[in-house]
Amino acid sequence: MTEQILLGIRDFLQPYVSLLNSHNVDYLTCNHWNTYVPEWIRQEDTVDLYDLFEKRYNEKSPAKNLLEELIDQIVDWKRKIEQITYTREQFEEQILPEKYENELTSLKNKTRTFMSPKKEHEVEILAPIIDQLANMVNVDSIIDYGSGRGYLGVKISYDYERNVLGIESSEEILHSGEKRIETLSKYQKELYDNIKYKTTSTIVNSETNFEKLFSETFDSYSSSFLLCSLHACGSLSCSLLNHFVENLSVRAIANVACCYHLLEEKFVANPFTNYCAENDPCSFPLSHRLIQEKTKLGRNARMLAVQSFERNKADQTLNAGLWYRALMQVLLVEIYGLTTGLQDIKLGKLTKKSMTFEEYVWKAVDKLKLDKTKITVNVINNYWIRYESCRHQLHTFIQLKVLFSGLIEMMILLDRLVFLEESVPTASSYLVALFDPIKSPRRWCLVSLK
Ligand SMILES: C[S@@+](CC[C@H](N)C(=O)[O-])C[C@H]1O[C@@H](n2cnc3c(N)ncnc32)[C@H](O)[C@@H]1O
Repeated sequence: MTEQILLGIRDFLQPYVSLLNSHNVDYLTCNHWNTYVPEWIRQEDTVDLYDLFEKRYNEKSPAKNLLEELIDQIVDWKRKIEQITYTREQFEEQILPEKYENELTSLKNKTRTFMSPKKEHEVEILAPIIDQLANMVNVDSIIDYGSGRGYLGVKISYDYERNVLGIESSEEILHSGEKRIETLSKYQKELYDNIKYKTTSTIVNSETNFEKLFSETFDSYSSSFLLCSLHACGSLSCSLLNHFVENLSVRAIANVACCYHLLEEKFVANPFTNYCAENDPCSFPLSHRLIQEKTKLGRNARMLAVQSFERNKADQTLNAGLWYRALMQVLLVEIYGLTTGLQDIKLGKLTKKSMTFEEYVWKAVDKLKLDKTKITVNVINNYWIRYESCRHQLHTFIQLKVLFSGLIEMMILLDRLVFLEESVPTASSYLVALFDPIKSPRRWCLVSLK
């Protein structure tokens, strides 16, 4: 069933792969609207696609046109995905042995946590689940994979008095995490002095020996582990899955992934290195069938996978800077004659404050150290006037892409789920929508228990 849905989503996305891999900054220079958007959607360029999607999701009536048919197909896939995945509530009720109280426990009630509200939301939900999963497979030792500043590991260790080993490659980040523990201990000295959270500055890879790392760090032996990770970027999540598959001592995993654009695809060359990872063990795809059928996604489609429909719908200013950036691209090509590396020019931060297009252009030209004498206020205004009528179409274009984003993310995650089911058939594996999609868009947690 899971594999069927995975293959179905892949086939459904196939005709849209070019659209999904288009780079937004080239929207005007490469005429994306006419190149990638089907004519029957272009005719509906004033329809709010997010509203239409919600309407079609909530009330089933026969589709009136091709656009509604397309939206209904996406709705159908969403419903199929809901059948094979879990909401947090379903997971708690059907899989976890106890219903936990998701109240802000010790850390929060007594003192400040020194986390962003987003991180706090994630850690508050994930820590008690990991504690229960560890009980279910009878492991004492938890490994926080790519632990960063240790938000999750510290919480698990503190609240559930567990040994947690944080593995983090960046010394600087580890150091900043240590400072945070020092600050926390000012509020609750006796508790943080005894905390069983330790860290190691290590780059994890397929050779990493957890028993050895653990005994070196804790001065005691452990033979079974739960590996957890909160936002393990790119291939780091795949590396965690491979450890689960290959290593008997890894009894369980709880993996929240992120940064899908950093994955190495087997059948698509990385645009920066021009390297295709066909012979590497860890990348996309992982499941047998997708490998056998040489399934591709593409970097820009994977980048799109991190955009959440719910968050974009709730805050439609998220992509507000894009129009200026797309228009700037026209100036860069037509006035400055730039032809290469255009997609990689990052001007994002310029748009943070509200500013006119003219101000934006001057700042951009300044930042890129381009010849200011080549443009005038008039030139800038003429570009604005020339393209102004296409502006609302970019909005529809972005909405259209975001409607597909959840399906691209699902292709990546279901591929991993199928990989686990194939590789450790005796394990129980679940994909759970853990976090609030508006607060924390990378919200899926892949859980597997041996
Ligand atoms: C997106 S951050 C998440 C950090 C933390 N889990 C959190 O939720 O705040 C991913 C972390 O993984 C670390 N990392 C990336 N690759 C790694 C590797 N191969 N071994 C160890 N740490 C790694 C990065 O330095 C970064 O701190």
